[in-house]
Amino acid sequence: MALTHAYHLDFPELQQEINGYPLTYLDSAASSLMPESVIETINQYHRTAHANVHRGVHTLSQTATDDYELTRDRVQALIGAAQREEIIFTYGATDSINLVAQTWGKVHLSKGDAILITEMEHHANIVPWQQIAQEKGCVIHKVPITQKGEIDQDAYQRLLAQEPVKVVALIHASNALGTVNPVKEMITQAHDQGAIVMLDGAQSAPHFTVDMQDLDCDFYSFSAHKLCGPTGFGILYGKMEHLESMPPFRGGGSMIEHVAIESSTYQRPPLRFEPGTPAIAAGIGFGAAIDYMMDIGMETIASIEHELLIEAQSRLEKLPKTTIIGSPSERIAVLPLHFEGIHPYDMGMFLDRRGVAVRTGHHCAQPLIEYYQLPGTVRCSLTFYNTVEDIDRFISAIEEGLEFFS
Ligand SMILES: Cc1ncc(COP(=O)(O)O)c(C=O)c1O
Repeated sequence: MALTHAYHLDFPELQQEINGYPLTYLDSAASSLMPESVIETINQYHRTAHANVHRGVHTLSQTATDDYELTRDRVQALIGAAQREEIIFTYGATDSINLVAQTWGKVHLSKGDAILITEMEHHANIVPWQQIAQEKGCVIHKVPITQKGEIDQDAYQRLLAQEPVKVVALIHASNALGTVNPVKEMITQAHDQGAIVMLDGAQSAPHFTVDMQDLDCDFYSFSAHKLCGPTGFGILYGKMEHLESMPPFRGGGSMIEHVAIESSTYQRPPLRFEPGTPAIAAGIGFGAAIDYMMDIGMETIASIEHELLIEAQSRLEKLPKTTIIGSPSERIAVLPLHFEGIHPYDMGMFLDRRGVAVRTGHHCAQPLIEYYQLPGTVRCSLTFYNTVEDIDRFISAIEEGLEFFS
């Protein structure tokens, strides 16, 4: 039984009380916690090899560079990229998408081109496209969703066929609904019409196996802090043919081949996109996080999370005044909740008084929340280090909350 595990014991943060109650952490979709091994790896870097990368001949700098660059190999293995050079280190998923919009977009978009953005995108895969669209005179079309919380596939195909579409901004798994989209088919359809796909993997990379060869997406982005790693570090995967066509995003040291006062030439990817001193400790820590997750195995993680989802869902469905938003055919362990007559913020605050951490609000997905005409939701997001006891405590706290607000 996948639910009897001891992974929660690896996370120091979980061994504490909040407001006099054992911490019930149900907000891993916002940021997952870090296991001891990751914290220790980051400590070790600071204690023994806190040196700059890619520039020193001395031993400490070499050690830091080797450890930092090892993370690129681990990411390549995690997502099945064809080459390690297709992995760009960024400051997070948001930074990754901005990089694509501002560099690929700068070269390949022109007036009148269409960009399709689904109604369930996170703001990170909306706003950068609006910015470049404004600059270039492109048009943006919304790909609508259905009440079930799925992308309307007929509308998607219609929009692809009607317009000279250049880019599809597509979320792999929704942070607000949990929906896992049929991205493989959607990517093929986009390619058939000559469009590229910016796949937002912030909520897929942490939860199940993703394979760039199989998905064939053009770009894929995610953040370390949602995969048991530190904040301030993220990944952009891009097909080499695209990366080579892109100018640098930011300029500075390390990304150049030669600099004269009048002009410069640039390194090949990935260094072309990585100017200045990066978040070295975070990068090395993320390597340890990938090791930790791959040791457990993405399939084991997916299966624990699926069992937790089924358990939480069936318990929540029995509660009065409680609605789970959306009923997609495939979903990660994310459950958006609406409590009749209770503002999400009030319920979130009440749960916090019981030691339960959930996120409330629009989850950086305002178009989606507006579609459902809600003031926001209370989002329960479960991950592999959650337990049935977490669900027990969550349900009891909601029951108390329903009573309190009645
Ligand atoms: C689906 C999705 N995309 C993008 C992001 C942005 O990630 P970050 O804030 O780490 O850049 C998030 C973060 O919540 C997300 O859930």
